[in-house]
Amino acid sequence: MNKAMHLQRFSAAAALCLVVVGMPLAAHADNAKKPAPSNPVWQEECGSCHIAYPPRFLPAESWRSMMGALDRHFGTDASLDARTAATIETFLVQNAKRGKPGQKPDGSILRITETKWFRSEHDEISAAKWKSPAIGSAANCGACHPGADKGSFRERDIKVP
Ligand code: HEC
Ligand code: HEC
Repeated sequence: MNKAMHLQRFSAAAALCLVVVGMPLAAHADNAKKPAPSNPVWQEECGSCHIAYPPRFLPAESWRSMMGALDRHFGTDASLDARTAATIETFLVQNAKRGKPGQKPDGSILRITETKWFRSEHDEISAAKWKSPAIGSAANCGACHPGADKGSFRERDIKVP
């Protein structure tokens, strides 16, 4: 083996070592901010009028009801062809909020902003604040969560206008 080859092998081994050592560290960091589940069809179709609301904020029952009535979607028609709708529904249901064991989530709630969880998480925001011009509606997540369109709602990023 000549010297150059030897060096090459050495650096390959070193690189491998770095990868192996780096892996658990990266995996650990990921726990804190695991990339939000995504799907290109969902992102495009459900992110055209508002942000693509992350599936984890509603139970599967709610997503099923919503996807079954897209022609009457909060006062607008958001219809899709059956195939596209089925793809999106599968993604939403698979990544939906999971209820506590033995608890049947209420599938009649279609708004994230009307869930108990949302209300208690945002209880310090006044009714007047929600309607202020810079916000407009509680459904406008991005007004206070700058990463909302990328599925990030981290506490330290929150800025209430
Ligand atoms: C044609 C426009 C349009 C499309 C496309 C659309 N939406 Fe909506 N969506 C609306 C409107 C309008 C509202 C009501 C917004 C408000 O009250 O501020 C809404 C509200 C919502 C809400 C409730 C937000 C809250 O108040 O918590 C959810 C959840 C939602 N949409 C999911 C979806 C999903 C899933 C898709 C894709 C299948 C989708 N939307 C596609 C127009 C659309
Ligand atoms: C008027 C500004 C505002 C809007 C609009 C808003 N939020 Fe928030 N949100 C906050 C504030 C402030 C907190 C921090 C509450 C606390 O920790 O006491 C928060 C907390 C959260 C948290 C918890 C973050 C964490 O890591 O603890 C989530 C998740 C969240 N909001 C999701 C949403 C979603 C989804 C929407 C839209 C449907 C939304 N928010 C709309 C202001 C807002």
